Amino acid sequence: MNMRTVYVNGTYLPENEATISIFDRGFLMADGVYEVTSVLDGKLIDFAGHAKRLERSLGELDMPHPECLPDLLDIHRELVRLNGIEEGMIYLQITRGAPGDRDFVFPDPETCTPTVVLFTQNKPGLANSPAAKTGIKVISVADQRWARRDIKTVQLLYPSMGKMMAKAAGVDDAWMVEDGMVTEGTSNNAYIVKGNTIITRHLGNEILHGITRAAVLRFAREAQMQVEERSFSIAEAQEADEAFITSASQFVMPVVEVDGKAVGAGTPGPVAARLREIYLEESRKAAV
Ligand code: PDD
Repeated sequence: MNMRTVYVNGTYLPENEATISIFDRGFLMADGVYEVTSVLDGKLIDFAGHAKRLERSLGELDMPHPECLPDLLDIHRELVRLNGIEEGMIYLQITRGAPGDRDFVFPDPETCTPTVVLFTQNKPGLANSPAAKTGIKVISVADQRWARRDIKTVQLLYPSMGKMMAKAAGVDDAWMVEDGMVTEGTSNNAYIVKGNTIITRHLGNEILHGITRAAVLRFAREAQMQVEERSFSIAEAQEADEAFITSASQFVMPVVEVDGKAVGAGTPGPVAARLREIYLEESRKAAV
């Protein structure tokens, strides 16, 4: 990969010159939040939604707002320009900062300011992913994350372990299950389709409130599809007509196998394909 230009605390600089303190609470305590925004045609997809969720995450954790918060759109755009991104992602992370020592107690926001890091991920062909044509396979794993999954924190060890369990099982991803019901995928929201009805878990502290989820459900309702926001089990998913996931990096991605059992015909279904098409079309139009 070419040397990227990244953003750290107000400065644009080459990735190999960007540094943060060893005392940064993101590093020591996973005391940080993040967002991933996709780029299509050199423009940001669903930026307003990501910015709003970021502010909510900061608020839920009593984390001070960084000074650059009002400039985030400009910073995203500048990174897209500097790195010549047509298709890809922008990763943004804000931590509570580096107080100069390790302490469980939050530092004084007067003296310790948040750390802000952004970098680009160039992914030519992101919207034309071959996986969207074949679908992906998932296994189920126990959901062993903390109880505030609605906050987009950088505590990603368990989702990372989930991906490794999927890899070890020879599949693409894992759906997490709690009290017999699917919460979500390791880094995406989970859906099934039965007849003309799209079923996805209701919002709560148990799942991340996906920005792609909100857009896709809106488009589905506008297209006169039925939407039921409720939890479902792995057994119900295996009996469904279709399944899929959504996220900023995968848009709408069909799921064709759950725990070794084919979903529907075992090929991507028409509802997921249609929603992917509508989502890409509409979000490209609204991109900034
Ligand atoms: N993940 N659920 C979880 C646990 C996630 O980590 C994500 C996003 C989503 C989908 O949210 P959205 O539609 O706003 O991207 C749901 C990002 C893409 C990541 O960690 O890379």
